[in-house]
Amino acid sequence: MSMGPFHSPEMSSASGGEPTNDQILLVSGAFTASRELAKLLRTAGGFSVEICPRVGDAIGEAIRSCPTVVLLDAREGIGDVLGVVGEFQRTAEVGAVPCVILASSATESIREEAFLRGVDDFVVEPVSTVELTARLKTHSTAYLNIVRRNRSITAYESLQSELRHAHRALDDARLRLSAREGDPGEEEWRERVSALMQVGIELNQIHDFHTLMDRILSEAQHLLKADAGTIFLREGDFLRFAFFLNETLAQRTASGQTPHVSSFRLPITDRSVAGWVCLTGQPLHVADCYAISPEAPYRFDSSFDQLLGYRTKSMIAMPLKNQSGRILGVVEVINPVGENGSSRPNFSEADIRLLEHFANIATVALERARLSDSVILRMIRMAEIRDPAETGRHVERVAGYSAVLFEEWARRRGLEGPAFERQRDRLRSAAKLHDIGKIGVPDTILKKPGRLTAEEFELVKKHAEIGADLFLHDPSDFDDAAREVVLLHHERWDGTGYPGLDDGGEHRGRRGEETPLFARIVGLADVFDALSSSRCYKDSWSEEKVLELIRSESERHFDPELVDILLERIAEIRSVRESLPDLPRP
Ligand code: C2E
Ligand code: SIN
Ligand code: SIN
Ligand code: FE
Ligand code: FE
Repeated sequence: MSMGPFHSPEMSSASGGEPTNDQILLVSGAFTASRELAKLLRTAGGFSVEICPRVGDAIGEAIRSCPTVVLLDAREGIGDVLGVVGEFQRTAEVGAVPCVILASSATESIREEAFLRGVDDFVVEPVSTVELTARLKTHSTAYLNIVRRNRSITAYESLQSELRHAHRALDDARLRLSAREGDPGEEEWRERVSALMQVGIELNQIHDFHTLMDRILSEAQHLLKADAGTIFLREGDFLRFAFFLNETLAQRTASGQTPHVSSFRLPITDRSVAGWVCLTGQPLHVADCYAISPEAPYRFDSSFDQLLGYRTKSMIAMPLKNQSGRILGVVEVINPVGENGSSRPNFSEADIRLLEHFANIATVALERARLSDSVILRMIRMAEIRDPAETGRHVERVAGYSAVLFEEWARRRGLEGPAFERQRDRLRSAAKLHDIGKIGVPDTILKKPGRLTAEEFELVKKHAEIGADLFLHDPSDFDDAAREVVLLHHERWDGTGYPGLDDGGEHRGRRGEETPLFARIVGLADVFDALSSSRCYKDSWSEEKVLELIRSESERHFDPELVDILLERIAEIRSVRESLPDLPRP
């Protein structure tokens, strides 16, 4: 048997090894009988088995070998064996490992005493190999699930500490900036620096990668009084055109939003402006992109202007460089705007300095966001490895659809601004965690190629509560949002979902708005993606068929307004799906 999916060096605990698969510690003084039993368990049950020939060594041996179940052989007498069970209970390292007694005969009172002392199971001979292995397997699996849950709690705690670290790093960046305030300089510079610090404070509160990037760009554009801005992010040897804002183009559209431009990548060479900046790590100020000196290695690619009907003139391109000098991307601001919308001839020296400071803050915040995202993703991946047919792209897509649905929901109510963005940011991160509780559901069920039995489905349903428990510990606002989504994403509008609530002695599903908005949104986004994708138990459906089902489930499974929103914004939903195709399976 290979190492379990949860074995990774960074995750192993300080107290030594942790079990990764079914492993029996067989405590037995009977030499020949124990050899035979061990062999049987290895071949019939697929267990790893260690034999401990002395009862007195059992605790030490268990601490060393990390079994997932201890089998105490009492076929030659129960005496010492009962004592050792109590000792297991009292020993922190092994207190939770299940203990099973195998006896050749037992009176009711011996069994009772054994259970009182904390034995998990008591098996009396004659017993079939099938039954014995099945019982041991059940205890072992239950124990492994507990270990895995604790492991993800540890991962979550490390996320929290990374976030605290991020906050400190941003505080440092702000301190460095305020030191500059004593510089000889104009009043305006000071004003803009304080605006910048305000931005730093707000960026500080944004942890989600996409929200952060949008925000960085619009703040840069605003503070430099530029008409347009672009962020390129480094992906290996390429720069991906990732975010784009353009006031002039936005004003030409009905919605007042920058038109959607599909993402593309350019190779990092000195032939393009952004590529040159990324290669050299130097900022670049171009007075007129259509009049770049023929001596310069780089050219401005005007095909984009032609496509959009725009004229890019003046530009500052600034690297997003971290403290160890690594370039994470390039931010460009384009075409300075003067008083009352007239165009200024050019960016100033102060603009360049300002963009440089801005890029520093943005880079710190960006790195931290990536870090916290990567911890979340690590948690998700831990759950996901159990279900390889679902790649990380599923959670990214569910997060993306959820953001689109929430945006439209908020737009209809006139909600916007930083508070709205913070909510959307939380929703996006929480959505990525929606199935984290699948960590507590056995592989045999999650990976089952066919339909689940009723009992199996009951176990799957527990993933909502198991996941929600992860967020009980020292909850922040984010934890509350995550908990809500994780716990309630399978409730249904008509009250037939799970896990439901207790209502005057009756247990029933939550109805309508008893399920909070975030959970209703993620519930719809999740089903949209589950239907559109292939799973170990189903093929993917066509978009037409998916939408037909969603329409027919309006007011039954789903909030009718959200169904309406999904249909209205289907182009964006589709573009999220297309931008995040499933990765090839390893
Ligand atoms: P999942 O695969 O992520 O599916 C999420 C939700 O999408 C499901 O929640 C269900 O509401 C919807 N969904 C998925 N496939 C279909 C489908 O073919 N038809 C319809 N009408 N709806 C579909 P649900 O039912 O609460 O299931 C929760 C989780 O339980 C699923 O997450 C999956 O991990 C597991 N599961 C459900 N049914 C089966 C099954 O037949 N076989 C296996 N192996 N797992 C299943
Ligand atoms: C938080 O908002 O507290 C952390 C979650 C995240 O990284 O988005
Ligand atoms: C994301 O796309 O949301 C996160 C990617 C990253 O961690 O850099
Ligand atoms: Fe789920
Ligand atoms: Fe899901």
